[in-house]
Amino acid sequence: MFVFAKKADLAQHLTQIGTTKKTIGLVPTMGALHQGHLSLLSKSCSENQITVISIFVNPTQFNNAEDLEKYPRHVDLDIEKVRTVSEDIIIFAPTVDDIYEGNTTSSPFEYDGLEFQMEGAHRPGHFDGVGTIVKKLFEIVMPTNAYFGEKDFQQLQIVKKLVEKYHIPVTVVGCPIHREANGLAMSSRNERLSTEAREEASLIYKILLEAKQKFSTQSANEVSDYVIRTFAKHPAFQLEYFEIADEATLITAKRKSSDKKYRGFIAVYINNIRLIDNIALN
Ligand code: PAJ
Repeated sequence: MFVFAKKADLAQHLTQIGTTKKTIGLVPTMGALHQGHLSLLSKSCSENQITVISIFVNPTQFNNAEDLEKYPRHVDLDIEKVRTVSEDIIIFAPTVDDIYEGNTTSSPFEYDGLEFQMEGAHRPGHFDGVGTIVKKLFEIVMPTNAYFGEKDFQQLQIVKKLVEKYHIPVTVVGCPIHREANGLAMSSRNERLSTEAREEASLIYKILLEAKQKFSTQSANEVSDYVIRTFAKHPAFQLEYFEIADEATLITAKRKSSDKKYRGFIAVYINNIRLIDNIALN
């Protein structure tokens, strides 16, 4: 198993193994790997001759210093988890200096308005940071396919837009959300929840499922009101937003249109930890 800490070493290795003639799958992550990440890796391994996983806690996408500081980091454990998927996966775990070369800032990105919705509105600069790191990773690895989870649905749409706008020759593959047995969407941040909060957080998916059911007969507004009222009854949760939005534009649904696909998107705090999730509604 190859583990690289420097982009120059990774690039040299990729040239050596003749990647210009092989398909490469890239799975960008921030580590603290769980089954959700590993499902992306398995998909990449089954669809490409070479798979690269990046493990890098990208500072420029954090708008909250405490969140960055407390983000779980354990690369050695991550390497062991990657090994359970395949010994052939190439791991790229660079330092901040290797990636940013002393200039740890993001570039501004424009994603046709996708960046102003939900996570973009609540986490200023977040998608500039995501665009900056994902573009850098694409330039270093030059993947044929890149795998992103629907868990971060807005990020997935934004990366697709980035690729389209910059004419980057990569296919962005969306992958389904992996959940814990109780329905909680797997996330590296779940590690920071108390056992009790982790159990309580199953309410998020339960309510998303209810929202989906209600959406078949009720308006977007009625469903949103229901979700907001339900969370208000549970003081352990602080709801940041619940939005029903058009999957393609991410613009909040006012009236339902039969030719559009809608999703419910949620951001909620429990135990001071911010969790996000989403569900297809139709
Ligand atoms: P991270 O949160 O580590 O997630 C890495 C990838 O795994 C993302 O594409 C994310 O959507 C996917 N993922 C996370 N939890 C998942 C789950 N429960 N089911 C399926 N997929 C899941 O997202 C990032 O890192 C960063 O923003 C990154 C793209 C690496 C840029 O820094």
